Amino acid sequence: MRVLVLNGVNLDILGRRDPALYGGLTMAELESRIYEWARELELAVQCRQTNDEGEFVKWCHDAYASVDGIVVNPAAWTHYAWAIHDALEPLTIPIVEVHLSNVDEREEWRQHSVVADLVAARFVGHGPDGYKMALDYLKERAT
Ligand code: DQA
Repeated sequence: MRVLVLNGVNLDILGRRDPALYGGLTMAELESRIYEWARELELAVQCRQTNDEGEFVKWCHDAYASVDGIVVNPAAWTHYAWAIHDALEPLTIPIVEVHLSNVDEREEWRQHSVVADLVAARFVGHGPDGYKMALDYLKERAT
């Protein structure tokens, strides 16, 4: 099973952002964990991160017919970037939304997700383990 993991804006500076909210791992460390979980679950995972919304949208387009599941943390774009909603909308594969912090219990503007109506599952506020939950979910769903 092929899974794309997309991380959005400012997640490249994990490790320098508030560890109380986002934990202490850098993006490279987080991706290593994700690849380790992928190996254990025998999933072919590719992780990507960008600060460019157009690039994120392009990767969503590329997911069409090339992967069997997608995990997205669109970061701040989650709360206002309807172009990301529209890029994900045509996908027929399961989409899983992950946030390191518990966006549902933070500022009001973070409590709205433009992708919430498209996702098969959401894991928020579990730190890095949220990505493991997303991979476990996709694996289980496929078997
Ligand atoms: C985030 C939550 C967003 O509100 C925030 O803008 C981020 C990261 C998270 O993973 O907790 O950059 O998506």
